[in-house]
Amino acid sequence: MKRFPAEFADLLSAKGRRILAGRDAGLRGALADPAHSFVAIANGIDPDAAKAAWRLLDSSLSPYLTALAQPIPPESITGQTRNYQERLRKTVRTRTAYLERRGTKAWRAAERIGLVAMTGSASFRRFVEILAGRPLAADYGRQVLCYGPGDYAGPHTDHHPEDARAAGGYIDVHVTFAGPGVARQYLVYARDGHFSEDADVALAGGITAYRLPFWHYTTPLVAKPGRADVARRWVVLGTFLYAGRETTKERGRG
Ligand SMILES: [Fe+2]
Repeated sequence: MKRFPAEFADLLSAKGRRILAGRDAGLRGALADPAHSFVAIANGIDPDAAKAAWRLLDSSLSPYLTALAQPIPPESITGQTRNYQERLRKTVRTRTAYLERRGTKAWRAAERIGLVAMTGSASFRRFVEILAGRPLAADYGRQVLCYGPGDYAGPHTDHHPEDARAAGGYIDVHVTFAGPGVARQYLVYARDGHFSEDADVALAGGITAYRLPFWHYTTPLVAKPGRADVARRWVVLGTFLYAGRETTKERGRG
């Protein structure tokens, strides 16, 4: 594979295409149900296409990744004055290629391999809309993440109360390509006020979708013994706002 297919639909397995067609009753509108803030679709991507996609991302985008590291602040312990009053901001270690601005090196590399076109395709939006169960706004965001051994994200909510259009919630979708050296990585998330749920995200070709905000964290990626050289999980991330959010907001202000 030298380029991603122009349509996301062409990357999907038979199971993924069924979901896209709205024929999976369990997943159609799954994220519109207040009880579900997260869905994981293992094997949503065609297995051969997933392997090829991992190789394509790994060979083409690796040079354009930048480190994203926010460690535990030492003052979170040294500055603590009361028992049981610890506070932890979002901690993270991973690498990322932001695809926010045309013309950056990362953008051009993503364009060369067809990633810009595929994440902008009608079937990608449609797939997310099926899971969301409601119409999505026209504009959207995209980003690429690459987790290596020991990379993780600490507990956080992805709540953006300062951004009027996202303050009431939005949808993230992650298309995951775990390399052959990845042993495990989990998403742990909250239900009914406890971090009681987990999902395997070390998927060779899977899709996860999130109705944000909610509390979650990503456990450190663990490599298979002797396979650290190919223990990287690539994530193609799309962020979608709900259609009509501005109108709702303005009404709210009045
Ligand atoms: Fe998150």
